[in-house]
Amino acid sequence: MKTRHFLYGGDYNPEQWPEEVWEADMKLLKAAHINELTINVFSWASLQPSEDTYDFSKLDRIMDMARDNGFSVMLATSTAATPPWMAKRHPDILRTDGDGMKRKYGARHNFCPSSPTMRKYAPLLAGKLAERYKNYDNLIAWHVGNEYGGMCCCDNCQKKFRQWLKKKYGTLDNLNRAWNTAFWSHTYYDWDEIVIPDKRSENFMSEGGKPITQVQDTYLDYERFNSDNMLEEYILERDAIKAVTPDIPVTTNFMWFFEGLDYNKWSKYMDFVSWDCYPHYDTDPAELAMAHDLIRGVGGQKPFVLMESCPSSTNWQHINPAKRPGELTMQSLEAVAHGADAVQFFQMRRARGAAESMHGAVIEHVGLGGTRVYNEVRALGEKLEGMDDILGSTVPAECAIVFDWENWWAIDVIQGPTELVDYKAECINYYRAFYDLHIPVDVISTETDLSKYRVVVAPFMLMVQDGFAEKVSDYVKNGGTFVTSYMTGLVDKDYLFYQGGYPGPFRETLGIWVEEQNALPPEKTDHFTWNGKEYEAHIVCDLIHPLSDLKRLIEDNKKALGDIDYLKDKAYHISDDACDAEVQGTYADDFYKGVTVLSENHYGNGHSWYVGTSSTPEFYRDLISAVADESGVKPLASNVPDGVEVAVRKNEKGTFVFYINHKDFGVDIKRI
Ligand code: GLA
Ligand code: ZN
Repeated sequence: MKTRHFLYGGDYNPEQWPEEVWEADMKLLKAAHINELTINVFSWASLQPSEDTYDFSKLDRIMDMARDNGFSVMLATSTAATPPWMAKRHPDILRTDGDGMKRKYGARHNFCPSSPTMRKYAPLLAGKLAERYKNYDNLIAWHVGNEYGGMCCCDNCQKKFRQWLKKKYGTLDNLNRAWNTAFWSHTYYDWDEIVIPDKRSENFMSEGGKPITQVQDTYLDYERFNSDNMLEEYILERDAIKAVTPDIPVTTNFMWFFEGLDYNKWSKYMDFVSWDCYPHYDTDPAELAMAHDLIRGVGGQKPFVLMESCPSSTNWQHINPAKRPGELTMQSLEAVAHGADAVQFFQMRRARGAAESMHGAVIEHVGLGGTRVYNEVRALGEKLEGMDDILGSTVPAECAIVFDWENWWAIDVIQGPTELVDYKAECINYYRAFYDLHIPVDVISTETDLSKYRVVVAPFMLMVQDGFAEKVSDYVKNGGTFVTSYMTGLVDKDYLFYQGGYPGPFRETLGIWVEEQNALPPEKTDHFTWNGKEYEAHIVCDLIHPLSDLKRLIEDNKKALGDIDYLKDKAYHISDDACDAEVQGTYADDFYKGVTVLSENHYGNGHSWYVGTSSTPEFYRDLISAVADESGVKPLASNVPDGVEVAVRKNEKGTFVFYINHKDFGVDIKRI
């Protein structure tokens, strides 16, 4: 979204307050340099007091007040919490949990996305809001719902799931093949035999206490369906708005590494992406930085909106320390450094009752300006007013990390070899290396064009999306550097395991064959050596061979089994010019002592690395440093004190380098 100034504001809920308070709010917020208000996020019950009555009178007064006081407005559709009367009259709107419990009215984000009532009344309200407020020239964006998420397992969702499957597979034969239903007698003969994979059917708690499913293929489709089904509900509201105000951008607010929805898919239906950033007091700064880059990535590397952040302490975390002096400024400018063109808070005034009364706000319960938090908000607002040149700039990254939601889901439901596998954590391991080396990174999807990057890292690609391996192969042939890691190339997008040797479609690009994995219990650490240095191996050890070992095995089997069709399958075909990767590192322990753990293949004009295990920050840093060096990628700075992050944005007005000090004491920076 293009703006002339940094948007600075956030969630404002005047409907929770007597109107005499509003005048003070306007004055206090203006004095704090606030220029934007996000309103109407949770007002459905008062906007629609009954089935056929609507009452916009209070919202009219709020909209007028915001306009008359010069505030830009992001207007929410109010549909993230349903009115109690609606649940009483139309129970289809209520969700059903994974154990079959139908919920009563309560809390928020409480609607079933398939509910006919929701699908009728939510877009109706969105359309009415658009009609009513379309002429407010301070209306700069629409905010649909709020933090979409969760799953519903009701009968309506089940019906829609079956329709979604029919559309995807066409025939039950196709579905039975993709889901490998011959396993445990699951063959379906009628679409209506298919049930939602929940705790009443396929799902259970593993020995280690992890929720897991028996039929990965089915569950993965349910995740895909649930994300699409929620998206459909969002689109209904979006379309109702667009029919009236086609030129006003529409968004919904995303969350921190939120697994439930495929944000790469959702962002295609949004005019700009926005997100709510609430780090915990002990969040790793690299994870926080990556979260911003992830959101910038799902938005196509364009500037994003920091829709919410907390001015001081949140209320919902386990422990909610106050932000220390300067921390609010540091975290807000960090968002800007990673691509935000807006800094916004939840909430403008601290609520008087219910869950969020202990949540930080610009105006605290004391109800006055001049508090420590208020003063810092004001000072930051003033600072942002002098930073307009940065608006619209992008991050000139030469390196990228691939982050794929479906792969995340796939890894989370795999049974074996260990419950310690963690896709997000492994991606952060690589991200942290770039972060520590002060090398900017884009987080990208499997659909992104790779050609602009010198280095692409796709950690732990258990599931390979159609066409991705071919794209990587071309990228490397053309001179790119590709890095991937253990348990990559095991399954296709139907969750069917590749035959003919891991890493499936990456075998030739990587020049290796992974024969097996060994899972390491948490108390066991293996070791490996690379460049004369010893590193730790954790979680999983892939046992890597040169590709020619696989070729030989295929030939031996051909000799033993004779000329049979089975071995003519393309899974058993390796090109004549395929070569073996160079051994970089080998294991130092166990029965696989001396076996390759780290390999580098010279493929076409490029290089591709395979890392067979999970290791420590030191290893990732050494690896990424070597890879960056080899690919001609230069860090933004060196000799920067520990705890200082360096980030960059660039546009036609200049290159803006940010030094972000995460320590609570001052440090000296020497620009290199
Ligand atoms: C979320 C929600 C807000 C509010 C904040 C509190 O981000 O979108 O409505 O509840 O959390 O941190
Ligand atoms: Zn439902």
